[in-house]
Amino acid sequence: MKTEPGIKIGSGYDVHRLVKGRKLILGGVDIDFEMGLEGHSDADVLIHAICDALLGAVGLGDIGEHFPDTDPRYKGISSMVLLDHCRLLMEQHHYRIGNIDCIVFAQAPKISPYKMQMQKTIASRLGIDPDRVNIKATTTEGLGFIGNLEGIAAQCSLLAYAAVEQ
Ligand code: CDP
Ligand code: ZN
Repeated sequence: MKTEPGIKIGSGYDVHRLVKGRKLILGGVDIDFEMGLEGHSDADVLIHAICDALLGAVGLGDIGEHFPDTDPRYKGISSMVLLDHCRLLMEQHHYRIGNIDCIVFAQAPKISPYKMQMQKTIASRLGIDPDRVNIKATTTEGLGFIGNLEGIAAQCSLLAYAAVEQ
């Protein structure tokens, strides 16, 4: 008989370009900044990293495969809808989220004033307690594309555990 592991790890990483004339949305929260992220969806780079971690934990590839950016259905879509879908896929595979730990790599804006709201927004959408979601932020000390404000990156680590059959 094939047995599934009791816990599984997932990881996600994403980058989007910063441009003028777009809203900046990170972790489902509107951020006050003079630039926003470019992308086919709302380009919420943090949510995309979390989606990839959810899919990765249950062995389902990445969000590009599930939501191709060539598909007009996903144009301008809220990334929270993509997150809903990834959550459902994890539940259908009988796994639950233990915790998620994320890093936002951004030279600006300052993320710390928004962290709590992001944690609550993400946790509520995933149906878990906010203390299971941790958001960290770092600059790159002015180095590289992040330091030059050309883009923002995000990374997510996730632990999933097997739901016990009743
Ligand atoms: O990461 P490190 O402590 O080396 O220094 P930093 O990149 O200058 O970040 C210092 C603090 O600012 C960290 O505690 C981050 O939580 C916060 N930070 C932030 O709120 N928003 C950013 N875009 C980058 C960092
Ligand atoms: Zn993305």
